[in-house]
Amino acid sequence: MELQPSDAVFQSYGRCCASEHFFEDFYRIFMGKSDEVRSVFTSTDMPEQRRLLRAGIMWLIMVARGASDNKLAHLGKTHNREGYNIQPYLYDYWLDALLETVAKHDNQHSDDLGRHWRTVLQPSIDKIRGAY
Ligand code: HEM
Repeated sequence: MELQPSDAVFQSYGRCCASEHFFEDFYRIFMGKSDEVRSVFTSTDMPEQRRLLRAGIMWLIMVARGASDNKLAHLGKTHNREGYNIQPYLYDYWLDALLETVAKHDNQHSDDLGRHWRTVLQPSIDKIRGAY
């Protein structure tokens, strides 16, 4: 039986987390997208940031699987114009970078799976971005 998209993404994320250097690679690709992205992380403790993102991506997936979205409301606040002031367009780079990293690290990756990642995460991302 075909997996539900959010189950397929959940399992794919498990393979990514088990892949060494997934999060290092993500930030390298993400920062390669624009100077704007690089400039917000200049004084960030990156090992800690990679650890926090590991949980953050899990929250996005869990919301698509029916969990409460109060963590997203919190991320919306920390990232908005009163917080880190993350301009809405930067989330497109974030998602593109994530999908490129997943394609590289998930050994069961496919075009369909890549599309599922996008559709599963988009509503959660829009919620965070929408709090700008
Ligand atoms: C911090 C997740 C998008 C820049 C964080 C944290 C998490 C997180 C979990 C740490 C907790 C917190 O401070 O709230 C996410 C998720 C994103 C996303 C899930 C996508 C939906 C972005 C984007 C940028 C960005 C697009 C802009 C380039 C930052 C910065 C910090 C941060 C600057 C603080 C770093 C520091 O402490 O120095 N993010 N983030 N995030 N994020 Fe994001």
